[in-house]
Amino acid sequence: QGDYNQKIDYVFKVVLIGDSAVGKTQLLARFARNEFSVDSKATIGVEFQTKTLVIDNKTVKAQIWDTAGQERYRAVTSAYYRGAVGAMLVYDMTKRQSFDHMAKWLEELRGHADKNIVIMLIGNKCDLGSLRAVPTEDAQEFAQRENLFFMETSALEATNVETAFLTILTEIY
Ligand code: GTP
Repeated sequence: QGDYNQKIDYVFKVVLIGDSAVGKTQLLARFARNEFSVDSKATIGVEFQTKTLVIDNKTVKAQIWDTAGQERYRAVTSAYYRGAVGAMLVYDMTKRQSFDHMAKWLEELRGHADKNIVIMLIGNKCDLGSLRAVPTEDAQEFAQRENLFFMETSALEATNVETAFLTILTEIY
């Protein structure tokens, strides 16, 4: 990063999806800039950030797209998914409803994305352990049934965020 002469071997587009306020924007901020904001505003439209990393001696530029979870702020769906080789389906482990909506998000994803897309289910906010509303086993079972990778993360405490992105990028590669 910061080296403008760096040769890029691959550019991988990864999209983040899930209900509003599950932490998509903060997961991206943590991964791309190692930042976190407590008063994160709802995303309007689409934003993306890139991070360049080395996998297997190849320079991979990860282009991570983040969109609004709120219907009224969402941009054109097909454009969002176009060219994506990875997707992170994010729920808030303290909000059962955000997990129950994963099936709906997965359906939209499968309807628009390439059929070979690598998908990871992410249970975010694991720092709020005492407020947990989604048992790990429920998510594991769903992930297994739908053939998804699965990880629990905390953007706040930086738990598993790097690992989750590295896992999906390595899997894509
Ligand atoms: P939309 O843009 O509306 O789709 O929301 P989003 O999914 O991008 O959520 P965002 O990242 O804006 O986070 C929503 C709220 O949850 C903010 O107040 C964040 O600070 C908080 N938050 C995000 N990640 C975590 C986390 O890992 N732990 C805790 N405790 N709070 C988090």
